[in-house]
Amino acid sequence: MNTILWLHGFPLTNAIFAKQLAITGVEHVMPELPPLESMDDYARFAIGQLDLRGIEKATFAGLSMGGYICFAALRLFPERVSGLILIDTRETADTDEGRKGRQEMIDKAEQEGVAPIAEAMLPKMLTPTVPPELKQFVRDVMMSCSREFVIAALRAMAARPDSSAMLPSVAVPTLVVVGEEDPITPTKDSERMASAIPNAKLVKIARAAHLSNVERPAEFNEAVTQFQT
Ligand code: MLT
Repeated sequence: MNTILWLHGFPLTNAIFAKQLAITGVEHVMPELPPLESMDDYARFAIGQLDLRGIEKATFAGLSMGGYICFAALRLFPERVSGLILIDTRETADTDEGRKGRQEMIDKAEQEGVAPIAEAMLPKMLTPTVPPELKQFVRDVMMSCSREFVIAALRAMAARPDSSAMLPSVAVPTLVVVGEEDPITPTKDSERMASAIPNAKLVKIARAAHLSNVERPAEFNEAVTQFQT
């Protein structure tokens, strides 16, 4: 049976993949990411999760920061990656302005904790008309992140390299999924990745923002199921 290794984004936990457990016919591995220093360290952590379970290869499914980890894993451990699902993510590094924003968030998290980060990110995660319970679920997930993880993830994201050059040599089946209303990694990022990766399939999910898998689980899971078969 194929394994999908799900890697979550920031400031989030593995709880955001709960609805993906409904995808049948595959083994799901959904670790919670700890505070680590770099995307390479996160890739080593991800491989360690496979090693723990005696799994040789997996489809790496990364949401946003999880996608940045997928690129690091592909660079360091290509023999362990049998497929890619790139969800609301991008291959490029941060701009100078982006890095400045990360530092401001680190300062805020150091002084005030996770709450202001969660409140600033929440409006970008979901479209404005989602049911209040869904919004509260995502807020709760963000608030359950440790300050250490939030700060470490911000540092690791700011320092990540540009992965554009590796896209044309990606030799595994690749699915790129994006919410049509994602303000963090807009559809143009996914279009660019999908056109640079040989034979990649692009699925745009209507009425979804950054957490397309949380906001539209039926459409998202259908895209993954079709990709798997
Ligand atoms: C994420 O969802 O992992 C982050 O928003 C990605 C980022 O800030 O670059």
